[in-house]
Amino acid sequence: MAYLLSKDNFTKIGEFIYRKSGIHLTMDKHYEKLAKFIDSRSAELGLENFRKYFFKLRFEDKDGSEFQELMNAVTVNETYFFREKDQFEVLVNKILPELHASLPASKPLRILSSPCSTGEEPYSIILHIVEEGKVVEERDIEVVGIDIDSTVIKKAQIAKYSDRAIHAIPKDILGRWFNKKALGYELGEDLQGSVDFQVVNIFDKAQMHKLGKFDVIFSRNMLIYFDDASRKEVAMTFYDMLNPGGYVLLGHAEYMSRIVSVFNAKKVDSTLIYQK
Ligand SMILES: C[S@@+](CC[C@H](N)C(=O)[O-])C[C@H]1O[C@@H](n2cnc3c(N)ncnc32)[C@H](O)[C@@H]1O
Repeated sequence: MAYLLSKDNFTKIGEFIYRKSGIHLTMDKHYEKLAKFIDSRSAELGLENFRKYFFKLRFEDKDGSEFQELMNAVTVNETYFFREKDQFEVLVNKILPELHASLPASKPLRILSSPCSTGEEPYSIILHIVEEGKVVEERDIEVVGIDIDSTVIKKAQIAKYSDRAIHAIPKDILGRWFNKKALGYELGEDLQGSVDFQVVNIFDKAQMHKLGKFDVIFSRNMLIYFDDASRKEVAMTFYDMLNPGGYVLLGHAEYMSRIVSVFNAKKVDSTLIYQK
């Protein structure tokens, strides 16, 4: 059976998605997934062809809910606790003590996980901070997690995880902060609510501005899905959102020096961090 989405129209909707979210879909990798989604969504909405679906998406989506459905279908949300763990160690051993020593005592230290997917990254940040213990005793630390996909944000707030998601957490840390359930693990009560989760599109300047300024921004394993122009735009957004002296940390396959030259790159052990 033919899909409602033709190959020509894949290019059209692909450009629309790219303009709004920075996500670059390719025919060979994404056509089938997107075509299946449009078939099932059009059936739910009683729309008999792609033109009607695309019209609704562009011109009748005042509250953005149709665009949200589309985003929830096309994002890649792969993540797990303690992924690229050396970066969390650099955070607690180098970055936090340095910022704590230089910031006025009354100022909270703010960390953004952007994108946070189902919450494993911002909760890993929290786990490292509470395990390290010293800075958090003396200073308020706020962690904010954002993602364009509303389904992952809901899961992050519920904080229930599969065995696979927690596989890299050392057993003693797991025992201290999680409760074992019949299926998987649940984040313990002490850490429930420790991250402020929000659905935010990184390209939406007004939404990003509302989040305020940060001292550290984690942005791992998202820029790989963008092209050069979008990466540059995101890097400059982060630059604007950072307090002077603040840091950005990227995924292992992502390099700021290939995107913009406004940050000062520093190597701590084998980890690259980027300072404003
Ligand atoms: C592979 S996950 C990375 C999660 C985590 N940072 C990690 O490294 O494990 C990529 C996430 O980027 C999010 N994303 C993609 N485009 C986005 C955008 N324009 N704004 C916000 N989040 C976006 C996706 O929804 C997805 O959850």
